[in-house]
Amino acid sequence: MSIIVTGGAGFIGSNFVLEWLRASDEPVINLDKLTYAGNLENLDSLQNDPRHTFVRGDICDRALIDQLLVTHKPRAIVHFAAESHVDRSIHGPGDFMRTNIEGTFTLLEATRGYWQALEADAKAAFRFHHVSTDEVYGTLKPEDPQFAETNAYAPNSPYSASKAASDHLVRAWHHTYGLPVTTSNCSNNYGPYHFPEKLIPLMIMNALAGKSLPIYGDGMQVRDWLYVTDHCSAIRTILAKGRPGEVYNVGGWNEMPNIDIVHTLIRLLDELAPSKEGSYARLITHVTDRPGHDRRYAIDARKIERELGWRPAETFETGIRKTVEWYLAHQEWVHNIQTGAYQEWVNKNYASR
Ligand code: NAD
Ligand code: TYD
Repeated sequence: MSIIVTGGAGFIGSNFVLEWLRASDEPVINLDKLTYAGNLENLDSLQNDPRHTFVRGDICDRALIDQLLVTHKPRAIVHFAAESHVDRSIHGPGDFMRTNIEGTFTLLEATRGYWQALEADAKAAFRFHHVSTDEVYGTLKPEDPQFAETNAYAPNSPYSASKAASDHLVRAWHHTYGLPVTTSNCSNNYGPYHFPEKLIPLMIMNALAGKSLPIYGDGMQVRDWLYVTDHCSAIRTILAKGRPGEVYNVGGWNEMPNIDIVHTLIRLLDELAPSKEGSYARLITHVTDRPGHDRRYAIDARKIERELGWRPAETFETGIRKTVEWYLAHQEWVHNIQTGAYQEWVNKNYASR
């Protein structure tokens, strides 16, 4: 028995692979293209581990996926691979359409061919789990109830539109072909190995480097934040107990405006890595808002709790402290990411704000 994970060198995917092999001996075949966001350093601890097979490749490559399925005969696929950054999708949406839509389509078609040829027992036990986002539901007003699985889709960014399209493909492959799929729509993750273009690691890194902390607009945009290993445990729970064809919203019951997140990080950094120049709060800078910026996301995660018994283990206080401590202890990981390519992105996104 084995599973195939796509995008397992990225932020959530690498946490998932590490957690999976911590909890079980079932081998993982990890298919990742290693875009700017993929980092094999995240998986350093698995270098000589025979349970982990890394394959560099593209989810749009049908021949490669067919070959992996035939060779490894997985009992499940967990699909993380995606272009994942909203700001990048605004600057250049093409890669998002290709990987998130065409890539998911290619994976579904290859999986369908493989699954249809399985023996009855293996066919019934097989799962395709699609990892998606709460952003497909669009934006909420302050008084609106949280997103439930029954909410209509209303994606607003090229990123969320491409993820919404992929969710629809996964749904259709179940309804039309009977492929045993599950989907999770999760809120914003944070924790170890988070690529430093995203809010939380960017703020930690900039503060430590004495650079400004760029708050888009008024900083009152609300997100729900979930510690990454809790997302991983939710996916493991869905794989084990989820019903084919079902969607599960996953969240941390922790809605916070961005500015409060930044103040929390400043409080922790002032305590754990104080600067001679005084509180990091001096670095806060309000910059031009993101075009089409969604005002609020919030997740109603009662279905996964009620039906599958999953709840997050971390509170925001415990998770964010662990995260700051991890970044302070892994400055070399951060340093290795700050290559020319990352610097180019920083110039493109922030120079004109
Ligand atoms: P990430 O950008 O850190 O990692 C994506 C990984 O996919 C990288 O390793 C990259 O190399 C790989 N990849 C990209 N294109 C590929 C291709 N064509 N073929 C093979 N591999 C490819 O993303 P993440 O934050 O870890 O997100 C993982 C998944 O979870 C995504 O599907 C994302 O939409 C979803 N998600 C993320 C969040 C979040 O807060 N980060 C929240 C909810 C859902
Ligand atoms: P991000 O981490 O990009 O995740 P997403 O857009 O998928 O929610 O951003 C989280 C929030 O932080 C979002 O409202 C945009 C905001 N933000 C800033 O204010 N400044 C920044 O430099 C970045 C990267 C994000």
